[in-house]
Order: sequence, then C-alpha cells, then structure tokens
Amino acid sequence: MCGIFGYVGKSNRAQDIVFEGLKTLEYRGYDSWGVAAKVKKHFFIEKHIGKIGNSKLNSKLSGLNSKLSIGHTRWATHGGVTVENAHPHLDCTKTIAVMHNGIIENYEFFKKDLIGKGHMFVSETDTEVVPHLIEEYLKKGFGFSTSVRNTFNLLTGLNAIIVAFAPSSEIVAVKNGSPLVLGADREGLFISSDVSGLISHTRKIIFLEDNQMIILGKKIKLFELPQGKEIRPVFHKIDWKFEKEDRGKFKYFLLKEIYDQPKIIENIALNYSQEAKKLARLVETAFGTFMLGCGTASYAALAGVYFFSRVANKHVNFSIGSEFNYLENYLTPQSLVIPISQSGETIDVIEPVKRAREKGSKIAAVVNVLGSTLYRQADTKIMLGAGMEKAVVGTKSFTAMVSVLLLTAFALAKREKEGERLLRKTAKNVREILRDDFVLKIKKIAEKLKDKEHIFLIGRGVSYATALEASLKLKETSYVHAEGFAGGELKHGVIALIEKDTPCIVFAPNDETYDDILSNAQEIKARGGFMIGIGPKENNVFDVFLKTEDLSIATIIPQVVISQLLAFYLAIKKGVKDPDKPRNLAKSVTVK
Ligand code: F6R
Repeated sequence: MCGIFGYVGKSNRAQDIVFEGLKTLEYRGYDSWGVAAKVKKHFFIEKHIGKIGNSKLNSKLSGLNSKLSIGHTRWATHGGVTVENAHPHLDCTKTIAVMHNGIIENYEFFKKDLIGKGHMFVSETDTEVVPHLIEEYLKKGFGFSTSVRNTFNLLTGLNAIIVAFAPSSEIVAVKNGSPLVLGADREGLFISSDVSGLISHTRKIIFLEDNQMIILGKKIKLFELPQGKEIRPVFHKIDWKFEKEDRGKFKYFLLKEIYDQPKIIENIALNYSQEAKKLARLVETAFGTFMLGCGTASYAALAGVYFFSRVANKHVNFSIGSEFNYLENYLTPQSLVIPISQSGETIDVIEPVKRAREKGSKIAAVVNVLGSTLYRQADTKIMLGAGMEKAVVGTKSFTAMVSVLLLTAFALAKREKEGERLLRKTAKNVREILRDDFVLKIKKIAEKLKDKEHIFLIGRGVSYATALEASLKLKETSYVHAEGFAGGELKHGVIALIEKDTPCIVFAPNDETYDDILSNAQEIKARGGFMIGIGPKENNVFDVFLKTEDLSIATIIPQVVISQLLAFYLAIKKGVKDPDKPRNLAKSVTVK
C-alpha cells in the first residue's frame, strides 16, 4: 500500500534520491505517484497516474537543485485515481507539502471549515486537509512542528503523515498506524515506508513507533504524542542480509516465487525443528490459542486449525484479522495469539494484536519480514524464511506458513521426525509438479478455462482451506470469478449456479474426505459440471485429472502449487498485463 520516501540533506539532487527510493517501494502496489521538491522558497510537484515503470522524472523537476524532497506512491482510498488526488498535497502558500498513509476519519468536518475560511482544495482526498490545517496553525503563530503535532492530534483514524516545510527545510513525520522508518548517513536523513527502501543508503535506522513525532532537519529530534515530550532517538544498526531481488530466468516474480517453493519447504523441514518446538510449547501451555491472518495468510491459519486437530488432537481457534476485534472478549493473560503475516504490516492483524497485548495475552508472530511492525510487537518471533516476496500475489509465503504450522502440529504431537520426513517428501513432489511435462498439463487446462466466467472449487477438511486459497489465486491473478467451498456446502444453495460445462475443481486427497468429496463431485457432474480433479487417485467422475503424490495432510501443498500455476497460466492466456501487480491490489495492506 502507499509507499513513502523522503530526503533532506546536503545533496542537491534530493528529488532524484526520492524518485529512486520510490522505485524500491513499487512492489507494495499503487495506482498513482508523485514527488515534491523544494526549490528556493516553494515546492515544485510532479504527479502521475499509473506505474513508475521505466519513466523518468519530468525535466522540469529533475533539472532543479533541491536538498529537500518527498515522494509517494498512492493506493486510492478517498477519491479516484487521478493526478489531482495523487500525493504530495500542498497548502495555499505552497510551502507545506504533505503525504499520508491511512484514513482520516473526520476529514469532512475540517474540509468544510477550511473552505469556509477561504482555503483552496484541488483534490477529493482526506489528506488535503492536513497542509491547510497546518497553515492555519502557522498563521496563529505556532512553530512548524507544533503545528504538525496540533493538527495530528485533531485527526481520528490510523495514519502516518509526513510533512515537508520549505522555510525551515525540515521534514516532520508522525504516526499512529502504518510503518515509517528513518535512516541517516553522512550526507542526509531519509524516511521510508520500509527498511528495504533505505538499505542502499544506510543501515543506521530508527523505527518510528505509534504516537511518536520525529523532526528531520539539521538533526533528528523525537517526541511523544500528544503532549510533545522530547525523547532520545535510538538508532538500530541493521545487519540483516537483503537479497537482491532478481527474477533470474523468469519473466515474472510470480513465476519465480512459485519455483522457489521446493527449496523453502526443504529448508523448513531441515532447519525449523527448534522453532516448531518453541511454538508447540507455547500452544501446549496456553489457555486458548487464536490464529489470525488476512487473505492468503488466513487460509494458511485455517489449514493450521485442521493440522493441530488431526495431528495433535489440539483445538486452536482461528479468525480473519479484521473480525478478531469483535471476538476478542474472552482473551486473557493466559491466551496465546498467533498472528500470521507475510509483510508483518497488515493493519487488520496489527490492530487486534495490539488489543490482545493490552489484555496481557502472549503474542507469537509468524512473519516473513524481519523488523516489521508485527515482528517488533511479538513476544516470540518465528521467521518464515521464504525470502523477499515481490509479486503482490502471495505464493511462497503461503507454502512457508503452512509448512511451519504443519511442523508445529507434529512437534506438539511429539512426532517431529515424521513431520520433517513428510515435508521433505512434499518438497520432492512440488519439484515434480514444476517440471515442464506437468506444467504443460496445467497450461492445457488453462486453455480450456480461458473463456469461462465462473469457476467453482471444492474441498473438505484441510482441502477446504485449499479451495479457498486456490480460488483467491484464480481471482486475483486471472480476474476470473472463482469461488471456493466446503464440499458439503454446495448443495445448500450454490449448486443452483451449476450449468452445462461450468468448471469445478475438486481437491480430493487420499484421506477421510475422499468418499464424500467424490459424492459432491458427482452431484455437480450430474448437473453438467466440467470436473477437474486434483489429488493422488484418479476417478471417472473427473473429466480432467492432475495427480499429486499421496502426502496425507500435507497434500494441501502440491494442491495449492498446482492452483498457483493454473492461476498464472490462465492470467497469461487471458492477456493480463502484469501478473506481478494485479489491478487494485497492494502487497502490504496498511489501511483498515
Ligand atoms: C493474496 C495475498 C493477500 C495477503 C493479505 C495478508 O495473494 O497475498 O491476501 O495474504 O493481504 O498479507 P500479509 O500476509 O502480508 O499479512
């Protein structure tokens, strides 16, 4: 979601530094972008809709000497995708430039009031009230940072706000949501939405925490909100290794990341025994465990519920992150909350975790991004080790989540070795699925499906989680309408949508669900459905069949990998422009 990058310092190419910084944040997903640079007494702005791609900064901006610049990639919330709505936004004097991530819930009240006072608005955004409110405070004689603090204290919602001020050549950042990281090198000070944006400049960083305000100018000053008490900034030296993201021989990160999966599963099988035992001990001793996640991570968590039940006879609860606030009344200091997240920045997970912490519950985060908000909030941290995931659509992070939860369930059952062996066998099967001859079969199915409007997917038990995850992959990658169901549910209503040749994908592992899921497949076929079976055993109900190894409960992994490939090739056949960045989506979802 919105990417933020800012620079103030000695270099007089501030706008170029910011533009390059924005490119490192492109993977987050956005629909427009903009850069503001201070020249003499005012800000000059360049804004565009669409992706940065291979564009260069407009010569009007790139030719200027500037030592202060901020830039933003916008994922629209209030107001459509237009040049006017792109950030940064200016006040009436063009000396205050603001960019923002979050939602200002009470902006309408201020907008009306400010228009009444003669302020000119050019966008439909909630953000634009901020520079004008600051302008009002400055007029009343407050200093710049106090004006930002007063303004921020007026706003409701979860927000990160970055303000550049031309007269003092300062950037002030303040937040109570969305991540912000500051960095310093000899030449200047930087602000970014994530560490990866800063790493080419510096490894000396500060994580801005919620309800803090920071001033970047000649030096750095940090304050607590709402009063503005000054506190000492603490720098962290980052010694993490950042892999250079490289598509290798692949045209898209999405495909590369699908092919990364066997190595990731093997790594978890070989090296995660201590991590799995650690998490298992917490589950064992907790009085109630709750797993949380959104989207793909929520389906990994749902699979975890089945793993813990089937492998370790242990009941754990599960909720999608955005619903957990309404279910959390029974949390106590004895409860364990396991947030599962690739980015570690999903606000719908972070917010309920914050509340759970307030209730004294323990937090054991399963995350992929080191240093992310969730990582820092957690009492126990389990890193997924999937490596940086660049494609917006989650693939290898899902496989890593499922592998870690599977190993944990086996650790809880004191059958760790069995879990490791199963994962190694799974990695081998995924390798086979990724071979050209198998992929060719998937491409042929994609060809058959390319003009279909609807696809239904069914599974029972842990394969119900597969059906949900596979339908999400199909929808977001190829834009086809796909719906996943528990096999038993279709006849309760949705079977009304089955017509001649409606494609239906059936996940049929060799487990206790096999007979029942085949009966459900028969019910659909009897109404004309075109049946695609995925599992270890062929059956004549299937019109097309893709064989996986029989991996008992781990069969979810090859099932999902096949679905990822199907989604990718369907997208290609349907002419989707860039499967790495599907329309309307963001990699890191930092607004509610
Ligand atoms: C779908 C996808 C999303 C994410 C969701 C949570 O392919 O990637 O559904 O799974 O936005 O993101 P994280 O895992 O970063 O919390």
